[in-house]
Amino acid sequence: MRMAAVLNPFIWDRPLDDPAKIIGMEAFANRVALTLKGQTNVALFGPRDTGKTTFTNQLALELAKSHDAGAPPFDVVKVNLQRVVSIPGFIGCVHDAMIGHPHKRLRRAAQRQIGALEKEIGFDIKIVKGSVKSSARTPAQDAETLHAQLVALRSVSDRLVVVFDEFQRLRHCPGDPLAIIRSALMSSGANHVSLLFTGSIRNAMKMMLERSQEPIFGEAADMQLPAISRVDFLEYLDYQFSETHKPADEDALNYLLAATGAHPRSTQQMAWECWVNTPSGRRVTLETVMRAHDRLVQTIERSEFASVLNLLMGGDEGEANEVRALQLLADRGGDKVSSRPVAARYGFSSHSRVRPALERLQGRGLVDHRDGTWYIVDPLFGEWLRRASPLADHVAYSPDGD
Ligand SMILES: Nc1ncnc2c1ncn2[C@@H]1O[C@H](COP(=O)(O)OP(=O)(O)OP(=O)(O)O)[C@@H](O)[C@H]1O
Ligand SMILES: [Mg+2]
Repeated sequence: MRMAAVLNPFIWDRPLDDPAKIIGMEAFANRVALTLKGQTNVALFGPRDTGKTTFTNQLALELAKSHDAGAPPFDVVKVNLQRVVSIPGFIGCVHDAMIGHPHKRLRRAAQRQIGALEKEIGFDIKIVKGSVKSSARTPAQDAETLHAQLVALRSVSDRLVVVFDEFQRLRHCPGDPLAIIRSALMSSGANHVSLLFTGSIRNAMKMMLERSQEPIFGEAADMQLPAISRVDFLEYLDYQFSETHKPADEDALNYLLAATGAHPRSTQQMAWECWVNTPSGRRVTLETVMRAHDRLVQTIERSEFASVLNLLMGGDEGEANEVRALQLLADRGGDKVSSRPVAARYGFSSHSRVRPALERLQGRGLVDHRDGTWYIVDPLFGEWLRRASPLADHVAYSPDGD
């Protein structure tokens, strides 16, 4: 038997890079690629774990294609800002993105640029990262280094897209990183560069990009990562289970997707949970899926979701309202959130308090708003809340309902 046949086909703990495994993003990648090639920057919102980083991988493939006469191939450099809280940290991330570029040609170009930069500024970039001993550096020196480094970055290709993943993290970075980005990557010498900002906390991103006193005001087209359609996911799961000799029953797959609402990470995690618990050659049944679902809902007890909930429970009235809103959403869905009797049943002093509470939860990335309806982003968290709720009507999912 080929090894590939026994490897787990479901990945849920890291972004996907194999294009054969990325579901349903081609059309959107094409749209975003054409926008970027047309010299418009893009700000892409999507809650946590819904596939933003995965999407940037699909996008890189799309950008590498030549589209029309005016849209030849573009190179991509991805800067992961997830852990950035300072300018030296930002410099470290850009350094890693350049030195560790997956394509040799770009990696070489980046090394050449960094070499030239180090000669010009007279020291090793590693000094900034703290891995080489040196005397203390001033914030102004660090800002200058970052600027010079971004200018070096823009020189690695004649047609370049720079992706700033988890851009909203820069909100906590002192030293005006946005002004430095603007000056290095959005000025007249950077006409060949387009930027993609991704972020999970919509309000923070919007604030940074749109507030008039901020330097990136009005420079980016605002797009939302599309949901993966249920049929596309169904087809993918069906194919992967049978290819790995663990074919899945139709009602099992329908139950799985109803339980996760086709949420990208949770769907893959639940598929994986079913997969590891099914011996090779056996079928994945409705019972397999229901058991997997129960186990995963129980893991929420020890997850960050439970800690956040505890924190909110111990907080002030505004935070208590957030707990109420979460519970309401988990029990009843997002259609009737501002009904007076419902709000009263959940302990709101007025039904007008529901919406601000939902907005605060959205700011935390726990709930979101799509097609006019509020919903809890993580379906396992939602189900965990619902199961413990004294106000929910505990009707099990019907396999073909949603
Ligand atoms: N297009 C896709 N097709 C199939 N599965 C996907 C897709 N996008 C994401 N996933 C699933 O979701 C998981 C999380 O994806 P990813 O890390 O890209 O999300 P993210 O939005 O960048 O998350 P974070 O907010 O944690 O950075 C992946 O491991 C994969 O299981
Ligand atoms: Mg990500």
